[in-house]
Amino acid sequence: MLLPVTLFLSFLVIPDIALSGSVFTYTSLAFISLLFLCNFLYAVIKNSEVKYIGAAFYLLIISLGFIILKNQAAFGAASEKHLAVINLKAQELEKEKKGKTINTAGVNGEEIYNRICIACHKFDVKVVGPPYKETIPKYNGDVKKLATFILNPVKVSPDYPPMPSQGLKPKEADAVAKYLIDKVSGK
Ligand code: HEC
Repeated sequence: MLLPVTLFLSFLVIPDIALSGSVFTYTSLAFISLLFLCNFLYAVIKNSEVKYIGAAFYLLIISLGFIILKNQAAFGAASEKHLAVINLKAQELEKEKKGKTINTAGVNGEEIYNRICIACHKFDVKVVGPPYKETIPKYNGDVKKLATFILNPVKVSPDYPPMPSQGLKPKEADAVAKYLIDKVSGK
């Protein structure tokens, strides 16, 4: 008998964000079927009309069904915005990850090394620039970081003159960076 009251109270305490048209509809339907249920129960108890007990039982199940639907709808409405935010964030992360994957198709890092870098760099001896065996391990296999240096060399060591920019395209820098890292790590 108290179900209509608790239903009404639960409707009052639902946070605004969880309210929607369907929450309202399911609450109303639950309410109506609970009122019918009370009617039948009243008939059973007051007038001993036992034949209504079956109907009361089904109405109880129907009411509980509507209450469950109402809760589902409220939960859905409440989490809708969060889900949208999470989705957006996931998409951003996915994009970022894609940006980090290195695509060197069609560019040969070894060829670039032999054409440009070899003038100043060998792997194990100092030429104009430092030997790669000493400098590449600093990058810990981070191709992007190394490619950034190659594209835009900055002053690093006081023992050497600054490295002039070699005017590579980003894809070429990626390719040569990957070649150097693989070569130094013995791959
Ligand atoms: C004209 C000579 C010259 C050429 C050509 C040259 N470099 Fe350098 N490179 C240098 C010098 C000089 C340094 C040392 C810079 C410093 O320590 O400030 C250096 C440093 C480096 C370093 C070490 C960076 C660090 O963090 O210590 C890397 C890696 C490198 N070069 C890669 C390349 C690649 C790849 C190419 C070819 C695309 C290339 N360099 C072409 C002169 C050159």
